Amino acid sequence: MTEETNGLETKVENMTTKNLEEDVVNPWEVASSSDKGVDYDKLIKRFGSSKVDEELIKRIENVTGKPAHHFLKRGVFFSQRDMHQILNLVEQKKPFYLYTGRGPSSEAMHLGHLIPFIFTKWLQEAFDVPLVVQLTDDEKFLWKDLTLEEANRLSFENAKDIIALGFDVEKTFIFSDLEYITQSPAFYRNMLRTQKLVTYNQVKGIFGFDDSTCIGKISFPSIQAAPSFSSSFPQIFNNKTNIPCLIPCAIDQDPYFRMTRDVAPRLGYSKPALMHSTFFPALQGAQTKMSASDPNSSIFLTDTDKQIKTKINKYAFSGGGTTVEEHKEKGGNCDVDVSYQYLTFFLEDDNRLEEIRKTYTSGELLTGYLKKELIEILQKIVGEHRQRRSQLTDDIVKQFMTPRKLKFDY
Ligand code: TYM
Repeated sequence: MTEETNGLETKVENMTTKNLEEDVVNPWEVASSSDKGVDYDKLIKRFGSSKVDEELIKRIENVTGKPAHHFLKRGVFFSQRDMHQILNLVEQKKPFYLYTGRGPSSEAMHLGHLIPFIFTKWLQEAFDVPLVVQLTDDEKFLWKDLTLEEANRLSFENAKDIIALGFDVEKTFIFSDLEYITQSPAFYRNMLRTQKLVTYNQVKGIFGFDDSTCIGKISFPSIQAAPSFSSSFPQIFNNKTNIPCLIPCAIDQDPYFRMTRDVAPRLGYSKPALMHSTFFPALQGAQTKMSASDPNSSIFLTDTDKQIKTKINKYAFSGGGTTVEEHKEKGGNCDVDVSYQYLTFFLEDDNRLEEIRKTYTSGELLTGYLKKELIEILQKIVGEHRQRRSQLTDDIVKQFMTPRKLKFDY
Protein backbone atom coordinates (compact mmCIF):
# COMPACT_ATOMS: atom_id res chain seq x y z
CA MET A 1 0.00 0.00 0.00
CA THR A 2 1.30 3.45 -0.78
CA GLU A 3 -0.21 6.79 -0.02
CA GLU A 4 0.93 10.38 0.31
CA THR A 5 1.53 11.68 3.82
CA ASN A 6 0.72 15.28 4.53
CA GLY A 7 1.92 16.38 1.09
CA LEU A 8 5.46 15.27 1.95
CA GLU A 9 7.82 13.52 -0.47
CA THR A 10 7.62 10.60 1.93
CA LYS A 11 5.52 7.62 0.99
CA VAL A 12 3.86 5.35 3.51
CA GLU A 13 4.95 1.71 3.29
CA ASN A 14 2.62 -0.64 5.07
CA MET A 15 5.04 -2.86 6.97
CA THR A 16 2.39 -5.37 7.92
CA THR A 17 1.59 -6.32 4.33
CA LYS A 18 2.45 -10.00 4.39
CA ASN A 19 0.33 -11.27 1.54
CA LEU A 20 3.12 -10.17 -0.78
CA GLU A 21 0.83 -8.90 -3.49
CA GLU A 22 3.52 -6.27 -3.47
CA ASP A 23 7.26 -6.71 -2.70
CA VAL A 24 8.24 -5.78 0.85
CA VAL A 25 11.32 -3.54 0.89
CA ASN A 26 12.30 -1.68 4.03
CA PRO A 27 15.45 -1.43 6.22
CA TRP A 28 14.47 -4.60 8.14
CA GLU A 29 12.89 -6.85 5.58
CA VAL A 30 13.15 -7.64 1.88
CA ALA A 31 10.72 -10.19 0.50
CA SER A 32 9.19 -10.95 -2.87
CA SER A 33 6.82 -13.69 -3.90
CA SER A 34 8.46 -13.91 -7.33
CA ASP A 35 11.39 -16.31 -7.78
CA LYS A 36 13.00 -13.59 -9.90
CA GLY A 37 13.06 -11.36 -6.83
CA VAL A 38 11.96 -7.75 -6.32
CA ASP A 39 10.38 -5.96 -9.29
CA TYR A 40 12.74 -2.98 -9.32
CA ASP A 41 10.90 -1.01 -12.01
CA LYS A 42 7.76 -1.10 -9.88
CA LEU A 43 9.81 -0.08 -6.84
CA ILE A 44 11.09 3.04 -8.62
CA LYS A 45 7.47 4.07 -9.22
CA ARG A 46 6.41 3.23 -5.65
CA PHE A 47 9.32 5.06 -4.02
CA GLY A 48 9.20 7.97 -6.49
CA SER A 49 12.88 7.76 -7.47
CA SER A 50 14.31 7.87 -11.00
CA LYS A 51 15.86 5.19 -13.18
CA VAL A 52 19.60 5.12 -13.81
CA ASP A 53 19.25 5.30 -17.59
CA GLU A 54 21.71 5.27 -20.49
CA GLU A 55 21.78 9.05 -20.60
CA LEU A 56 22.85 9.31 -16.94
CA ILE A 57 25.51 6.61 -17.37
CA LYS A 58 26.93 8.45 -20.42
CA ARG A 59 26.95 11.69 -18.46
CA ILE A 60 28.80 10.07 -15.55
CA GLU A 61 31.38 8.76 -18.04
CA ASN A 62 31.74 12.18 -19.67
CA VAL A 63 32.04 14.10 -16.41
CA THR A 64 34.52 11.67 -14.78
CA GLY A 65 36.39 10.71 -17.96
CA LYS A 66 36.19 7.08 -16.80
CA PRO A 67 34.35 4.07 -18.26
CA ALA A 68 31.24 3.27 -16.22
CA HIS A 69 31.60 0.69 -13.45
CA HIS A 70 30.02 -2.66 -14.38
CA PHE A 71 27.47 -2.11 -11.55
CA LEU A 72 26.15 0.81 -13.62
CA LYS A 73 26.27 -0.99 -16.96
CA ARG A 74 24.51 -4.08 -15.57
CA GLY A 75 21.76 -2.24 -13.70
CA VAL A 76 23.01 -3.10 -10.18
CA PHE A 77 22.82 0.61 -9.31
CA PHE A 78 19.45 1.03 -10.96
CA SER A 79 17.76 3.95 -9.20
CA GLN A 80 18.72 7.48 -8.17
CA ARG A 81 17.58 10.79 -6.77
CA ASP A 82 19.11 14.09 -7.96
CA MET A 83 22.18 12.51 -9.54
CA HIS A 84 22.01 15.02 -12.41
CA GLN A 85 22.31 17.83 -9.87
CA ILE A 86 25.49 16.26 -8.49
CA LEU A 87 26.91 16.14 -12.02
CA ASN A 88 25.92 19.78 -12.56
CA LEU A 89 27.92 20.69 -9.43
CA VAL A 90 30.96 18.79 -10.67
CA GLU A 91 30.75 20.58 -14.02
CA GLN A 92 30.63 23.90 -12.16
CA LYS A 93 33.69 22.79 -10.13
CA LYS A 94 31.63 22.90 -6.92
CA PRO A 95 32.21 20.35 -4.13
CA PHE A 96 30.09 17.47 -2.89
CA TYR A 97 30.84 14.51 -0.60
CA LEU A 98 29.89 10.87 -0.27
CA TYR A 99 28.10 9.34 2.71
CA THR A 100 27.33 5.67 3.28
CA GLY A 101 27.08 3.32 6.26
CA ARG A 102 26.79 -0.05 7.91
CA GLY A 103 24.80 -1.35 10.85
CA PRO A 104 27.31 -3.59 12.68
CA SER A 105 25.15 -6.57 13.62
CA SER A 106 27.67 -9.34 12.90
CA GLU A 107 31.37 -9.95 13.39
CA ALA A 108 32.04 -9.73 9.67
CA MET A 109 30.21 -8.25 6.71
CA HIS A 110 28.82 -10.44 3.93
CA LEU A 111 29.15 -10.19 0.17
CA GLY A 112 25.92 -8.18 -0.13
CA HIS A 113 27.26 -5.45 2.13
CA LEU A 114 30.24 -5.10 -0.16
CA ILE A 115 28.11 -3.91 -3.07
CA PRO A 116 27.52 -0.30 -1.88
CA PHE A 117 31.07 -0.05 -0.55
CA ILE A 118 32.70 -1.26 -3.78
CA PHE A 119 30.65 1.27 -5.72
CA THR A 120 31.34 4.03 -3.19
CA LYS A 121 35.06 3.42 -3.63
CA TRP A 122 34.69 3.71 -7.38
CA LEU A 123 32.71 6.97 -6.99
CA GLN A 124 35.27 8.36 -4.56
CA GLU A 125 38.11 7.66 -6.97
CA ALA A 126 36.19 8.86 -10.02
CA PHE A 127 35.13 12.17 -8.43
CA ASP A 128 37.96 12.61 -5.87
CA VAL A 129 35.71 13.63 -2.97
CA PRO A 130 35.58 13.06 0.80
CA LEU A 131 33.69 10.07 2.18
CA VAL A 132 32.03 9.69 5.59
CA VAL A 133 31.00 6.21 6.73
CA GLN A 134 28.51 5.88 9.59
CA LEU A 135 28.63 2.73 11.73
CA THR A 136 25.28 2.60 13.50
CA ASP A 137 26.20 0.60 16.61
CA ASP A 138 23.44 2.54 18.42
CA GLU A 139 20.89 1.24 15.85
CA LYS A 140 22.01 -2.35 16.36
CA PHE A 141 21.87 -1.96 20.16
CA LEU A 142 18.26 -0.80 19.81
CA TRP A 143 17.15 -3.42 17.28
CA LYS A 144 19.18 -6.51 18.16
CA ASP A 145 19.98 -8.46 21.28
CA LEU A 146 23.37 -6.77 21.72
CA THR A 147 24.93 -4.82 24.58
CA LEU A 148 26.28 -1.37 23.84
CA GLU A 149 29.81 -2.66 24.37
CA GLU A 150 29.34 -5.52 21.93
CA ALA A 151 27.70 -3.32 19.29
CA ASN A 152 30.60 -0.88 19.59
CA ARG A 153 33.14 -3.70 19.28
CA LEU A 154 31.37 -4.96 16.14
CA SER A 155 31.57 -1.48 14.62
CA PHE A 156 35.34 -1.62 15.02
CA GLU A 157 35.44 -5.11 13.42
CA ASN A 158 33.23 -4.00 10.55
CA ALA A 159 35.41 -0.92 10.01
CA LYS A 160 38.21 -3.38 9.20
CA ASP A 161 36.14 -4.93 6.40
CA ILE A 162 35.48 -1.47 4.98
CA ILE A 163 39.11 -0.34 5.22
CA ALA A 164 40.30 -3.62 3.66
CA LEU A 165 38.54 -2.57 0.44
CA GLY A 166 41.32 -0.02 0.02
CA PHE A 167 39.83 3.34 1.07
CA ASP A 168 42.26 6.26 1.39
CA VAL A 169 42.75 7.35 5.01
CA GLU A 170 43.40 10.95 3.91
CA LYS A 171 39.99 11.15 2.23
CA THR A 172 37.79 8.94 4.43
CA PHE A 173 36.29 9.35 7.91
CA ILE A 174 34.69 6.25 9.45
CA PHE A 175 32.78 6.78 12.70
CA SER A 176 30.85 4.81 15.26
CA ASP A 177 27.71 6.67 16.39
CA LEU A 178 28.41 5.72 19.99
CA GLU A 179 31.74 7.52 19.75
CA TYR A 180 31.20 10.43 17.36
CA ILE A 181 27.92 11.66 18.87
CA THR A 182 29.64 12.18 22.21
CA GLN A 183 32.51 14.00 20.48
CA SER A 184 30.56 16.26 18.15
CA PRO A 185 28.10 18.91 19.32
CA ALA A 186 27.48 19.76 15.65
CA PHE A 187 26.22 16.24 14.90
CA TYR A 188 23.93 16.22 17.93
CA ARG A 189 22.50 19.60 16.97
CA ASN A 190 21.54 18.29 13.53
CA MET A 191 19.91 15.26 15.14
CA LEU A 192 17.84 17.56 17.33
CA ARG A 193 16.91 19.86 14.46
CA THR A 194 15.58 16.84 12.56
CA GLN A 195 13.79 15.43 15.62
CA LYS A 196 11.90 18.69 15.99
CA LEU A 197 10.58 18.58 12.43
CA VAL A 198 9.39 14.96 12.19
CA THR A 199 6.28 13.81 14.03
CA TYR A 200 5.53 10.37 15.49
CA ASN A 201 2.76 10.07 12.95
CA GLN A 202 5.23 10.54 10.10
CA VAL A 203 7.78 7.95 11.31
CA LYS A 204 4.93 5.56 11.98
CA GLY A 205 3.99 5.90 8.34
CA ILE A 206 7.51 5.72 6.96
CA PHE A 207 8.96 2.98 9.17
CA GLY A 208 5.93 1.09 10.46
CA PHE A 209 6.60 1.94 14.13
CA ASP A 210 3.69 1.39 16.49
CA ASP A 211 2.68 2.11 20.06
CA SER A 212 4.91 -0.62 21.45
CA THR A 213 8.06 0.57 19.63
CA CYS A 214 10.67 1.83 22.10
CA ILE A 215 11.39 5.54 21.87
CA GLY A 216 15.04 4.91 20.96
CA LYS A 217 13.90 3.41 17.66
CA ILE A 218 11.42 6.20 17.08
CA SER A 219 14.13 8.86 17.21
CA PHE A 220 16.86 6.80 15.51
CA PRO A 221 16.09 7.97 11.94
CA SER A 222 17.33 11.46 12.92
CA ILE A 223 20.74 9.86 13.62
CA GLN A 224 20.95 8.25 10.19
CA ALA A 225 19.85 11.58 8.67
CA ALA A 226 22.52 13.74 10.35
CA PRO A 227 25.55 12.69 8.24
CA SER A 228 23.66 13.91 5.13
CA PHE A 229 24.39 17.47 6.27
CA SER A 230 27.95 18.82 5.92
CA SER A 231 27.52 20.87 9.12
CA SER A 232 27.66 17.57 11.07
CA PHE A 233 31.38 17.41 10.20
CA PRO A 234 32.80 20.90 10.87
CA GLN A 235 36.34 19.49 11.05
CA ILE A 236 36.07 18.17 7.47
CA PHE A 237 34.08 20.94 5.84
CA ASN A 238 35.52 23.95 7.67
CA ASN A 239 32.10 24.73 9.20
CA LYS A 240 30.46 24.98 5.75
CA THR A 241 26.79 24.07 6.06
CA ASN A 242 25.90 23.87 2.37
CA ILE A 243 28.05 21.16 0.82
CA PRO A 244 25.73 18.63 -0.84
CA CYS A 245 26.00 14.93 -0.26
CA LEU A 246 25.52 11.80 -2.39
CA ILE A 247 24.52 8.55 -0.68
CA PRO A 248 25.21 5.19 -2.35
CA CYS A 249 23.25 2.36 -0.65
CA ALA A 250 20.93 -0.52 -1.44
CA ILE A 251 17.32 0.59 -1.86
CA ASP A 252 16.27 -0.82 1.56
CA GLN A 253 17.76 2.30 3.18
CA ASP A 254 15.69 4.72 1.09
CA PRO A 255 12.99 5.30 3.77
CA TYR A 256 15.59 7.02 5.99
CA PHE A 257 16.56 9.33 3.19
CA ARG A 258 13.03 10.10 2.01
CA MET A 259 12.55 11.44 5.52
CA THR A 260 15.89 13.29 5.36
CA ARG A 261 15.00 14.85 2.02
CA ASP A 262 11.73 16.10 3.50
CA VAL A 263 13.40 17.92 6.36
CA ALA A 264 16.54 19.19 4.57
CA PRO A 265 15.03 22.27 2.88
CA ARG A 266 13.24 23.21 6.10
CA LEU A 267 16.64 23.27 7.81
CA GLY A 268 18.15 25.33 4.98
CA TYR A 269 20.25 22.35 3.82
CA SER A 270 20.48 20.61 0.41
CA LYS A 271 18.56 17.38 -0.02
CA PRO A 272 20.97 14.43 -0.17
CA ALA A 273 21.22 12.80 -3.61
CA LEU A 274 21.08 9.00 -3.79
CA MET A 275 22.17 6.07 -5.89
CA HIS A 276 20.36 2.83 -5.05
CA SER A 277 21.49 -0.72 -5.70
CA THR A 278 19.49 -3.89 -6.14
CA PHE A 279 19.94 -6.65 -3.56
CA PHE A 280 22.58 -9.31 -3.69
CA PRO A 281 20.27 -12.33 -3.28
CA ALA A 282 20.32 -14.88 -0.49
CA LEU A 283 21.87 -18.23 -1.43
CA GLN A 284 18.39 -19.77 -1.28
CA GLY A 285 16.99 -17.50 -4.00
CA ALA A 286 16.13 -13.99 -5.08
CA GLN A 287 12.90 -13.84 -3.01
CA THR A 288 14.97 -12.24 -0.28
CA LYS A 289 18.32 -10.50 0.21
CA MET A 290 21.49 -11.91 1.67
CA SER A 291 21.16 -11.18 5.39
CA ALA A 292 23.66 -11.36 8.23
CA SER A 293 20.97 -12.64 10.62
CA ASP A 294 20.70 -15.89 8.64
CA PRO A 295 24.27 -17.29 8.33
CA ASN A 296 23.20 -19.98 5.84
CA SER A 297 21.86 -17.31 3.51
CA SER A 298 25.18 -15.54 3.33
CA ILE A 299 28.83 -15.77 2.40
CA PHE A 300 30.80 -13.76 4.94
CA LEU A 301 34.07 -11.99 4.24
CA THR A 302 35.68 -14.18 6.90
CA ASP A 303 34.50 -17.48 5.35
CA THR A 304 37.26 -19.96 4.42
CA ASP A 305 37.70 -21.34 0.89
CA LYS A 306 36.11 -24.56 2.12
CA GLN A 307 33.08 -22.79 3.63
CA ILE A 308 32.54 -20.86 0.38
CA LYS A 309 32.67 -24.06 -1.66
CA THR A 310 30.30 -25.89 0.67
CA LYS A 311 27.81 -23.03 0.88
CA ILE A 312 27.63 -22.56 -2.90
CA ASN A 313 27.41 -26.27 -3.65
CA LYS A 314 24.90 -26.99 -0.89
CA TYR A 315 22.68 -23.90 -0.77
CA ALA A 316 22.96 -21.80 -3.96
CA PHE A 317 19.56 -22.14 -5.62
CA SER A 318 19.93 -23.60 -9.08
CA GLY A 319 17.93 -22.68 -12.18
CA GLY A 320 19.24 -25.78 -13.91
CA GLY A 321 17.39 -28.98 -14.74
CA THR A 322 16.95 -31.61 -12.02
CA THR A 323 18.89 -34.20 -14.05
CA VAL A 324 21.71 -33.76 -16.58
CA GLU A 325 19.38 -35.06 -19.30
CA GLU A 326 16.66 -32.59 -18.42
CA HIS A 327 19.16 -29.72 -18.20
CA LYS A 328 20.61 -30.57 -21.63
CA GLU A 329 17.14 -30.77 -23.10
CA LYS A 330 15.47 -27.75 -21.51
CA GLY A 331 18.44 -25.56 -20.54
CA GLY A 332 18.99 -23.51 -17.38
CA ASN A 333 17.11 -20.42 -16.21
CA CYS A 334 19.59 -17.61 -15.47
CA ASP A 335 16.81 -15.34 -14.15
CA VAL A 336 16.40 -17.49 -11.03
CA ASP A 337 19.82 -19.13 -10.79
CA VAL A 338 21.61 -17.66 -7.76
CA SER A 339 25.12 -18.63 -8.93
CA TYR A 340 24.54 -16.85 -12.23
CA GLN A 341 23.13 -13.83 -10.38
CA TYR A 342 26.27 -13.70 -8.22
CA LEU A 343 28.43 -13.76 -11.34
CA THR A 344 26.64 -10.66 -12.64
CA PHE A 345 27.96 -8.83 -9.56
CA PHE A 346 31.46 -10.27 -9.38
CA LEU A 347 32.54 -11.48 -12.83
CA GLU A 348 33.78 -8.31 -14.51
CA ASP A 349 34.52 -9.80 -17.93
CA ASP A 350 31.43 -8.98 -20.04
CA ASN A 351 32.30 -11.50 -22.76
CA ARG A 352 32.76 -14.42 -20.36
CA LEU A 353 29.51 -13.55 -18.57
CA GLU A 354 27.62 -13.52 -21.87
CA GLU A 355 29.18 -16.83 -22.89
CA ILE A 356 28.08 -18.37 -19.58
CA ARG A 357 24.57 -16.97 -19.99
CA LYS A 358 24.23 -18.39 -23.50
CA THR A 359 25.67 -21.84 -22.77
CA TYR A 360 23.80 -22.22 -19.48
CA THR A 361 20.51 -21.17 -21.08
CA SER A 362 21.00 -23.62 -23.95
CA GLY A 363 21.79 -26.46 -21.53
CA GLU A 364 25.35 -26.91 -22.78
CA LEU A 365 26.91 -25.64 -19.50
CA LEU A 366 25.94 -27.69 -16.48
CA THR A 367 25.13 -26.27 -13.02
CA GLY A 368 28.22 -27.93 -11.50
CA TYR A 369 30.51 -26.04 -13.88
CA LEU A 370 28.74 -22.76 -13.34
CA LYS A 371 29.10 -23.21 -9.58
CA LYS A 372 32.77 -24.19 -9.96
CA GLU A 373 33.54 -20.97 -11.83
CA LEU A 374 31.68 -18.90 -9.22
CA ILE A 375 33.43 -20.68 -6.32
CA GLU A 376 36.84 -19.87 -7.81
CA ILE A 377 35.95 -16.20 -8.31
CA LEU A 378 34.54 -15.81 -4.80
CA GLN A 379 37.41 -17.70 -3.16
CA LYS A 380 39.80 -15.26 -4.86
CA ILE A 381 37.84 -12.13 -3.87
CA VAL A 382 37.19 -13.22 -0.28
CA GLY A 383 40.70 -14.70 0.10
CA GLU A 384 42.36 -11.43 -0.97
CA HIS A 385 40.00 -9.51 1.30
CA ARG A 386 40.80 -11.79 4.27
CA GLN A 387 44.49 -11.26 3.62
CA ARG A 388 44.22 -7.43 3.50
CA ARG A 389 41.95 -7.45 6.58
CA SER A 390 44.39 -9.56 8.60
CA GLN A 391 47.12 -7.02 7.96
CA LEU A 392 45.15 -4.12 9.44
CA THR A 393 46.39 -2.96 12.81
CA ASP A 394 44.21 -1.34 15.49
CA ASP A 395 46.26 1.77 14.89
CA ILE A 396 45.22 2.02 11.23
CA VAL A 397 41.56 1.56 12.20
CA LYS A 398 41.90 4.31 14.83
CA GLN A 399 43.37 6.67 12.23
CA PHE A 400 40.31 6.23 10.01
CA MET A 401 38.02 6.70 13.04
CA THR A 402 39.60 9.86 14.46
CA PRO A 403 37.63 13.08 13.80
CA ARG A 404 39.99 15.23 11.74
CA LYS A 405 40.40 17.39 8.67
CA LEU A 406 40.71 15.39 5.44
CA LYS A 407 42.86 16.15 2.40
CA PHE A 408 40.33 18.66 1.00
CA ASP A 409 40.19 22.45 1.56
CA TYR A 410 36.92 24.37 1.84
P1 TYM B 1 23.27 -2.57 6.75
O1 TYM B 1 24.38 -2.89 7.66
O2 TYM B 1 22.02 -3.37 6.81
O3 TYM B 1 23.80 -2.62 5.28
C1 TYM B 1 24.99 -1.94 4.88
C2 TYM B 1 24.85 -1.52 3.42
O4 TYM B 1 24.70 -2.68 2.61
C3 TYM B 1 23.46 -2.62 1.91
N1 TYM B 1 22.97 -3.99 1.85
C4 TYM B 1 22.96 -4.70 0.71
N2 TYM B 1 23.30 -4.36 -0.54
C5 TYM B 1 23.15 -5.30 -1.49
N3 TYM B 1 22.68 -6.55 -1.24
C6 TYM B 1 22.34 -6.93 0.01
N4 TYM B 1 21.91 -8.16 0.25
C7 TYM B 1 22.47 -5.98 1.06
N5 TYM B 1 22.21 -6.00 2.41
C8 TYM B 1 22.54 -4.77 2.86
C9 TYM B 1 22.57 -1.66 2.69
O5 TYM B 1 21.60 -1.05 1.88
C10 TYM B 1 23.60 -0.65 3.15
O6 TYM B 1 23.92 0.27 2.12
N6 TYM B 1 21.08 1.47 8.82
C11 TYM B 1 22.15 1.04 7.92
C12 TYM B 1 23.49 1.69 8.23
C13 TYM B 1 23.62 3.07 7.63
C14 TYM B 1 23.65 3.40 6.24
C15 TYM B 1 23.79 4.81 6.20
C16 TYM B 1 23.57 2.62 5.07
C17 TYM B 1 23.74 4.22 8.32
N7 TYM B 1 23.86 5.29 7.46
C18 TYM B 1 23.87 5.46 4.95
C19 TYM B 1 23.66 3.28 3.85
C20 TYM B 1 23.79 4.70 3.81
C21 TYM B 1 22.28 -0.49 8.00
O7 TYM B 1 21.92 -1.11 8.96
O8 TYM B 1 22.92 -1.02 6.90
